[in-house]
Amino acid sequence: MDLEKTAFDHIIERRGTGSMKWDLAEPDLLPLWVADMDFEAPAAVKETLIERAHHGIFGYGAPAPGCDEAVVGWLRRRQGWSVTTEQLSFCPGVIPAVSLLIRLFTLPGEGVIVQTPVYYPFYDCISRNGRRIVENPLAFDGKRYVMDFDDLERKAADSRTTAVILCSPHNPVGRVWTEEELHRFGEICLRHGLFVIADEIHGDLVYRPNRQIPFASLDEAFAASSALCIAPSKTFNLAGLQFSMVVMADKQRRERFRDGLLALGLKRPNIFAQVAAEAAYLHGEPWLEGLLAYLEGNIAFLRDFLDRRLPELRLIEPEGTYLAWIDCRALGLSSQELEVLMLRDARVWLDEGYIFGDAGAGFERIVLACPRKVLEEALMRIEKAVRALPR
Ligand SMILES: Cc1ncc(COP(=O)(O)O)c(C=O)c1O
Repeated sequence: MDLEKTAFDHIIERRGTGSMKWDLAEPDLLPLWVADMDFEAPAAVKETLIERAHHGIFGYGAPAPGCDEAVVGWLRRRQGWSVTTEQLSFCPGVIPAVSLLIRLFTLPGEGVIVQTPVYYPFYDCISRNGRRIVENPLAFDGKRYVMDFDDLERKAADSRTTAVILCSPHNPVGRVWTEEELHRFGEICLRHGLFVIADEIHGDLVYRPNRQIPFASLDEAFAASSALCIAPSKTFNLAGLQFSMVVMADKQRRERFRDGLLALGLKRPNIFAQVAAEAAYLHGEPWLEGLLAYLEGNIAFLRDFLDRRLPELRLIEPEGTYLAWIDCRALGLSSQELEVLMLRDARVWLDEGYIFGDAGAGFERIVLACPRKVLEEALMRIEKAVRALPR
């Protein structure tokens, strides 16, 4: 393992900072559940925020063209995708965007497809808006999860099903969809007139040789019938600033989305979010490269630990995201027993697989974006609890 310590090895106390991850956890409970990172954001982001705070006046902000241009430049450099600033709309978070898109582009009672197991807030975005959840479960081919296209075709053919949420890269299973998969997916959606909501919030967190391909970049017809959600929040650990962008090629849809935001009184981003996002997209690239290398080290550490010390637990290799999806079914425990094992016995707080849908039962999701020592501590706690299980 790395002998040289990096900035990402540094353990920073987060309790007492109003952190959802740390301040909601009892003092002896180690949290690796919510998808935020225990790492400082890039120095350029911190300095920009300090400089802005020093000004001392925090009145209403104006639109920041520099921020939009920074987003456009980032997408071109990192993902080879050309969009115009005109195609971008601000929204204070990806989940609010997904929810609003569902309200605007589907009707009450209509079905919205999700590829399960999947990021659980999607279920709320659908059902709390009076739409129906339609599951297109992912299939496991023995090595990785793949889309079940036949099932998707069948579900999409129902005229009462009008939209689909594409999670790309996929949370929690860590897939980075290939060009071929995205094409097949997109063709089915086009054939049946489905509106595609592509949540690409993890799109910058991809491990080579995998490559993030923005869904809308593949085909003009895909772009015209989709909305693609991106954000600096996962990439640079800025989730608390609540900033995202929705990219839409279709002008009419874009206008409807902006009207929808206005109807909610949402006119402009938080002034701090705007400057932070701009600084991150302009100056954060070297930091991101360092982060990806560190995360790959954490994945290797986890793989090695499970192989040597916890062979009952199986890592589903992530191609992207900082999330590890772990198959714990060989322990022979029910979902409730597994939860008790982690929370009560090991004193680690993970996301239980079943909350991602029935297909997640028997799995755990671990957030790997923490110093390696913290990950090691969590794994040692889990190992001790597993060894203490009655045989
Ligand atoms: C796939 C996915 N979408 C959206 C979000 C949350 O986005 P936001 O905080 O911008 O609403 C997350 C956070 O974990 C996520 O994993």
